[in-house]
Amino acid sequence: MKEKQEEFIKMVKAKIDGRNLQYYILTMGCQLNENDSEKISGMLTEMGYTETQKFEDADIVIFNTCCVRENAEERLFGKIGEIKKIKEHKDLIVAIGGCMMQEKNMVSKIRKSYPFVDVIFGTHTMQNLPEDIYKALIEHEKVKDVIDVDGEIHEDIPIRRNDKFRASVTIMYGCNNFCTYCIVPYVRGRERSRNPQNILKEVQDLANDGYKEITLLGQNVNSYMAHQGADLESAGEINSFAKLLDAVCKIDGIERVRFISPHPKNFTDDVIESIAKNDKIAKIIHLPLQSGNSKVLKEMNRVYNKEQYLELVRKMKDKIPNIVFSTDIIVGFPGETDEEFEDTLDVVRKVNFEQIFMFIYSPREGTPAAKLEQIPEEIKHKRFDKLKELYESKVDENNDKYLHTQQKILIEGLSKNNDKMLTGRTDTNKVVIFEPETNEKIGDMVTVEIIEAHKWYLKGKIIH
Ligand code: 5AD
Ligand code: SF4
Repeated sequence: MKEKQEEFIKMVKAKIDGRNLQYYILTMGCQLNENDSEKISGMLTEMGYTETQKFEDADIVIFNTCCVRENAEERLFGKIGEIKKIKEHKDLIVAIGGCMMQEKNMVSKIRKSYPFVDVIFGTHTMQNLPEDIYKALIEHEKVKDVIDVDGEIHEDIPIRRNDKFRASVTIMYGCNNFCTYCIVPYVRGRERSRNPQNILKEVQDLANDGYKEITLLGQNVNSYMAHQGADLESAGEINSFAKLLDAVCKIDGIERVRFISPHPKNFTDDVIESIAKNDKIAKIIHLPLQSGNSKVLKEMNRVYNKEQYLELVRKMKDKIPNIVFSTDIIVGFPGETDEEFEDTLDVVRKVNFEQIFMFIYSPREGTPAAKLEQIPEEIKHKRFDKLKELYESKVDENNDKYLHTQQKILIEGLSKNNDKMLTGRTDTNKVVIFEPETNEKIGDMVTVEIIEAHKWYLKGKIIH
């Protein structure tokens, strides 16, 4: 595979050499998609394209789509419409990839409504992009490169990263959980874990290149190697998520380790122990709740109930000093009553989440929940506003608890509002601004004491 990819990269490069062609990528959706886009960027860079932020200037435009929630489609179709006008008077390649292209009927819909699209590629065929582009560019073919079969992991796709100090590393692909609202298992396929040696090599290379913060990515990271078909034999010692975390933390140069997303049902004690004993692991855990009501959770097929979720949080708070949580919540799941929604608010009050990603339920065709009787939009919106209000009422209280504490900050740059100040984030993702002391630079880790707490940021003073 790698040889074939390299061959097409060379062939495209030879054709466009000296023409100074540019690419533009629009990424929708989650960090896994962002990471895929870095690989798309990597392949395009090897082919000889350079990146532009303006799609009017691009010679190739790539859309990396997401289909987890509604309205991504409208956004995509709006953008394709804009591109159509440009393509009328410019030789331009338009390629669309990502999760949405794995949806039933989507390819034929695009073919019919937007016949000028040159390449359609799926999540399992991203590695073929050089070949797809070659066919579109040189042979003027309309390319469809989408398959349903998953199972293969493609190592060695070149990658061009967006950041110099923080990097994401995908550790597993796909999802086996089939939460009833979610389309991901249908478009991303079954769980496949990368070999730990490949992951550790990638992290080691990042450390050698000066990266300080690593985020391990997967649809369900804590079932790393725990699914059917995991190649435990070739994995050797590192045959679980906890062991992978320990091994990543041993890599010198890496100072902070994050992971998203774990599933509460797979949060085993060995993972909790690993978080407790490794200083490098950020002490904010993203623990998707989705709903606080046991009946709704059952209908969502989440495999835990309200009490089990709260018990897990209590156990982690007991074992890991200063641990905080962030979460995902869906409001307005089919059949959710006002009373059941109250349970969600109850859990929010009890856990005191540092950050909540709130979503209004949207039916996804092909998922079991889409067939159930739906709740009126206005009720969904009312619940959303109520949840938001509760969350925002807690922000001040949550920020105040940082006052006079010491926090490790990875310096990200100059503050947007005041270029005499530096900015960065705590372990727990809070934005902190502070004055430089000596010659601190972007990418340094410093310790600051928090001296002021504001609603959307904290102010600190460097200690060392
Ligand atoms: N409607 C609303 N939110 C959804 N999510 C997943 N599917 C849906 C849907 N159909 C949310 C979940 C998940 C996050 C990535 O997106 O909260 O954790
Ligand atoms: Fe979707 Fe559930 Fe899998 Fe997350 S765990 S990707 S919500 S099916």
